[in-house]
Amino acid sequence: MEVTIRRFRIEDYDRVIELWQACGLPLKPKGRDSREEISRQLRRPEIIFLVAEAEGRVIGTVLASYDGRKGWINRLAVDPSFRGRGLAQKLVRLAEQELEKEGLRMFAALIEADNLPSIKLFQKLGYVHHPEIKYFTRKLSPDI
Ligand SMILES: CC(C)(COP(=O)(O)OP(=O)(O)OC[C@H]1O[C@@H](n2cnc3c(N)ncnc32)[C@H](O)[C@@H]1OP(=O)(O)O)[C@@H](O)C(=O)NCCC(=O)NCCS
Repeated sequence: MEVTIRRFRIEDYDRVIELWQACGLPLKPKGRDSREEISRQLRRPEIIFLVAEAEGRVIGTVLASYDGRKGWINRLAVDPSFRGRGLAQKLVRLAEQELEKEGLRMFAALIEADNLPSIKLFQKLGYVHHPEIKYFTRKLSPDI
């Protein structure tokens, strides 16, 4: 099976949302994941959104982002019927390469505590777990 990894285009939006739903990723359809918001993010240089395509379908995603200090790996997802073939590993490494081109030397990911596949994956890729860190956020509205 031939898999192509390329930049996300807005025409992929519906297929990507379907994939994220199938993968059980928490969705913010009125906030960060709305079509308008994704379009806005795409115009920012610090958002690197890659999709994997096979047989004309979007089967994987990774959305890397960065600030001046760290690169972040977000929205990693692989279609359930294409799992266990190393695609997530490939997506993360490509996202890291893109971040490295922007001068980033440190990468980070936030993973839910019960997401064992993802925890194992990031550990395999050399990421270190920081149990001493508590994650805090403040949202200006609840659905963003
Ligand atoms: C996590 C996810 C992206 C992995 O995708 P994948 O393409 O199947 O992963 P890979 O084939 O690249 O796996 C690489 C490594 O990850 C680990 N891993 C992946 N799936 C695993 C599972 N179900 N159980 C245990 N370890 C797993 C293994 O260490 C594996 O290496 P190995 O095959 O040599 O054992 C996929 O399960 C997924 O989309 N999950 C739902 C969305 C999600 O949780 N995303 C991450 C949010 S932080």
